[in-house]
Parts: sequence; structure tokens; C-alpha cells
Amino acid sequence: MTPATDPTDEVAAQLAALRAQVEGSVCCPLGATRTRLVFGEGDPHADLMFVGEAPGYHEDQQGRPFVGQAGKLLEQLLASIGLTRERVYIANVLKCRPPNNRDPLPAEVAACEPYLWRQIELIQPRVICSLGNHATKLLSGRPYGITRVHGKPQLVRLGERQVYLYPIFHPAAALYTPKMLTTLKEDFARLPEVLELPLPSAEEEALGSLSAQGDDGGGADRQPPLRPPQEESEALTLAVQPDAPEAPAPPPVARQSPAPLSAAPEAPAPRPAGPLPVAPAREESVAPPAGSDAGTDTDQAGARVGEQLGLF
Ligand code: URA
Repeated sequence: MTPATDPTDEVAAQLAALRAQVEGSVCCPLGATRTRLVFGEGDPHADLMFVGEAPGYHEDQQGRPFVGQAGKLLEQLLASIGLTRERVYIANVLKCRPPNNRDPLPAEVAACEPYLWRQIELIQPRVICSLGNHATKLLSGRPYGITRVHGKPQLVRLGERQVYLYPIFHPAAALYTPKMLTTLKEDFARLPEVLELPLPSAEEEALGSLSAQGDDGGGADRQPPLRPPQEESEALTLAVQPDAPEAPAPPPVARQSPAPLSAAPEAPAPRPAGPLPVAPAREESVAPPAGSDAGTDTDQAGARVGEQLGLF
């Protein structure tokens, strides 16, 4: 029985309740133009979560994330490290398709992001792979684009927990550009190593030894608004209230033991030289690069390049 169909799986049940809430709400104008909501899918207990930008045409039609050409590439990349989409969780910043696949507007991100925070809070992944600029900037809480930060795991605090954020190029953008595709494959090949990185224990967090806190720490300190924007279901009242830090901690989310993620025998060898460096926390003095960041959905043109590269 898969976790999604297990009636005793509390996380799956809470995700389903959240999905129903989002389905029943129109919290920004995109809700009125969507064909279907694209909530997200996968293992509710996944160690590895992917966050893309927004549904495209095919996702909007099917109500599932990453089912177009970019999704095919994502599945191939997953297979290259011995995983399938069923063993990870895949979501987007936006749950509804922007018209003509335009970039998400800040107001749309603001309206939708509480649902993503809640998904993360429920799933409790060890590693979140942000795909492209929009997801990376939102999850890191920093303006640095994907060209600058890709392939560098960052320890970030999301609500009550720390998690490794591992930004990589968006598969749709990589379909356009062979060089970007090469980099995406290299970054992806290191994911098994990132999944092995130790997360700080509660004691270490308190001592700050591995913590992301502090100006010279090892990652970003992100306090996302975990509260949903509209009415609160019973499940949603468990969310952390960011503007009431003195409130008691929410009850722990029941967590089953997922099968450990493991690399396939044919997975590429880890980088030979030393441990995987974790990106430094603070980079305020350095301006983000102008104009060079990729991250938009480019499925159709990307598919042509994908064909030329023999991907499909
Ligand atoms: N691009 C995204 O960012 N998300 C999808 O679900 C599909 C394409």
C-alpha cells in the first residue's frame, strides 16, 4: 500500500486536507483561469522534495506537476540517481498556471506561498531541490539567482526545522541550452551526496555549531509564513504562527519511516575531492548577477532541443 492510500497515514491525510482547501479557494486571479489545480504529488514522507515555478500547459490540463517535456527530463535525471518521481515529492511555488506561462507575479507568489510552506512542514524533507530562479529566491529568502547559487547546498531554516536547500537549473530552461543541461546533470549527480549531509541535531542547533543562525553561519535563516492565507482547517491550525513567536510549538507531525533513498549502482561517483561544501550564509556585499539567470518554463522550444540532444 502506498503512503498516499494508507488510511492510517496522518501526513498523507493532512496533505489531502490541504489540497481540498486549496482546491476550494480562489486566493488569487489565477484560480479563476486555471483548468486544474496542480497541488503537488509524491511520497508524503520523502527525504527529497522538488519545488518548481508554476504549472505549464500540460500540468494545467492534467492537474499534476512536471508532466510535460521538463517533467520527462526530471524523470530521466531522477532515474540517473536511482529514483523515481513516486519516491520524491514534487510541488511548485504556484499551484495554478499563469497565462501563457508568464513569470509569476509577486502578488501571486504571496498568495500561494503559505501552501508550499505547509507542504514542506508536513513532508519534512531533508533536502529541497529548488528548480530555477523563482523557487530558489523564495526558499532561500535571498535575491541571488540560480546561475550564482546552483549546485551549492545551503542550510536554511524553514519554520521549525532546518533543511538543505539545493538549487539547480530548471529542467525546462536546461532543455534550451546544452551547457545548462550539462551543469544540471552534474548538479543532479551530486544529489545523493547532498542527501547524506548531516542535519544539525536539536543540541547542535541550540549551540549553533551547525546552525544557520548568526551572521557568520552556514546558511540562510528563513522564517516563512506558515499560516494559510484564508480560513483555517483543523489541519492548518497546526501551522506555526510566524507573527506570534511566543506561541507554543505545534504538535509534532506523525512521521512514518520512509524507505531510505539510495543511489542506484550505476549512479555517478561522488566528487573525488573532499566533503561537499555548504554555501556560506551571508553574501550581502555581492550583488546578484544581472540578467543571466534562467528559470522559466520553456517546454515547447526546450522539447526541440531535447530531441536534438537525444533526450526523448
Ligand atoms: N515547470 C514548472 O515549474 N512546474 C511544472 O510543474 C512544470 C513545468
